[in-house]
Amino acid sequence: MFDRRTFLRTGIAAAGTAASGGLLVACGADSPGRGDFVAPDSARVHAVERARHGGRTVSARLVASRDTIDLGGRAVATWTYGGRLPGQQIRLRAGEILAATLRNDLAADTSIHWHGITLRNDADGVPDLTQEPVRVGNTYDYRFTVTQPGTYWLHPHSGVQLDRGLYAPLIVEDPHEPLRYDDEWVVVLDDWLDGVTGTPDQVLRELSNGMGGMDHGDMGGMPGMDGETASPGPAGGSHMLMGAKSDLLGGDAGDVRYPYFLVNGRIATAPDRYTGKPGTRLRIRFINAGADTAFRVALGGHRMSVTHTDGYPVKPVTTDALLIGMGERYDVLVTLGDGVFPLVALAEGKRANGLALVRTGAGRAPDAKVRPKQLSGRIVSYRDLSPAGEARLSSKKPDRTIDLKLTGGMMHYDWGFNGRKYDPNRIEPIREGERVRLRLANTTTMWHPIHLHGHTFAVADSGVRKDTAIVLPNTTLRVDFDADNPGIWMTHCHNVYHAEAGMMTLLGYLAGS
Ligand code: C2O
Ligand code: CU
Repeated sequence: MFDRRTFLRTGIAAAGTAASGGLLVACGADSPGRGDFVAPDSARVHAVERARHGGRTVSARLVASRDTIDLGGRAVATWTYGGRLPGQQIRLRAGEILAATLRNDLAADTSIHWHGITLRNDADGVPDLTQEPVRVGNTYDYRFTVTQPGTYWLHPHSGVQLDRGLYAPLIVEDPHEPLRYDDEWVVVLDDWLDGVTGTPDQVLRELSNGMGGMDHGDMGGMPGMDGETASPGPAGGSHMLMGAKSDLLGGDAGDVRYPYFLVNGRIATAPDRYTGKPGTRLRIRFINAGADTAFRVALGGHRMSVTHTDGYPVKPVTTDALLIGMGERYDVLVTLGDGVFPLVALAEGKRANGLALVRTGAGRAPDAKVRPKQLSGRIVSYRDLSPAGEARLSSKKPDRTIDLKLTGGMMHYDWGFNGRKYDPNRIEPIREGERVRLRLANTTTMWHPIHLHGHTFAVADSGVRKDTAIVLPNTTLRVDFDADNPGIWMTHCHNVYHAEAGMMTLLGYLAGS
């Protein structure tokens, strides 16, 4: 495995050599070793953090714990931050410093990743890469400057913990907010099975057997990573979902069978609600915290004006519905009508939905399975969006192009990049100051939401800025970014089961560049 101490030592040594005028010595013809990269807590990373000139410090405390929580008349045993689902929202302003303490009261190592934030590499929360895992019973302090306003979120980066209840919104306010609105509502979407049909670790074990998995019934008794003894899947079936189809997603919609889809931690029969006055201009911040589900979202009786995706502003576009992949965020503005309106999150291709309500007047609450017509109206695509103002990257030819072929399939559950599983010793080199292009060629029969840590790329051809983007089957998505945040960064599929199976890799800044 990856030894951080060795990693840091060699990393600092390489940076020191470069600083004293020595040339970087490549250890192989075309494959630099760990010591050739800017290490997560190196002097260069510290210098870039200092240049962010963080202002006021905002403190937060997160306790990752094993709890029983109420999804709305359904109690489940799961893992959460502080017994709440979603976890308590963290809110600060761009330019401020977040000082967050994590306490680990789980039964496994953990850490926190701050999804979408351009932060110092050693606060990125990837265990065995940017920090030591936080052991059971220990605490860990994160401290980093947040420069970019927007809608972000946080979750663990260990195994499939994200598919439990470990997630919370991270909202960064703009001190010069250009939008005018009266109120705000954060809407977090999730697919749920933990404590109902099994645990995410059991799901991963079953999926890892591939579609020949039915031959391996003996796997049922093996002790898992979570220290539990696996029991067979739900009675008469399995966790594997077959036949979930979506035209929007180019075919196969997902791998995993979920009994519930949650909006703000509530099942559809006991929905969360926003209560306000008719005529309120409401900013809704959508976050997809699911593990294997894209959501198609609409607010009955309303059209939405899309203002941001993944924290960055877009030129406003009016739409009936949104398609949100795992890890993606959208901000919209709506002017509320008078009555009771369903906010429906359709589990795309899975024939089920999550629900919340908007109530501004009298009226009966709609049925839990309501399907407002907006769901089949206009759905914005990346091509319909363009970056607003300073969100547009300068036009520049890429200095470097990296080809990442999305590979693997359900048969052997061998998801990866370029035909290989994640290997912490394989790092794609980039240099500080470069414009880097990733060519994400999806050769599989499934869609994948690909996420890059520490940067927000521009999607060709519209230039819309995102940190997580859906790549449909048999398509290639080009994304460009400026290499301005030195360190070693993950890029991976945000389907947590695909990522754990191996669809993750690393980009590293060469030291002395
Ligand atoms: Cu939200 Cu590495 O991911
Ligand atoms: Cu994937």
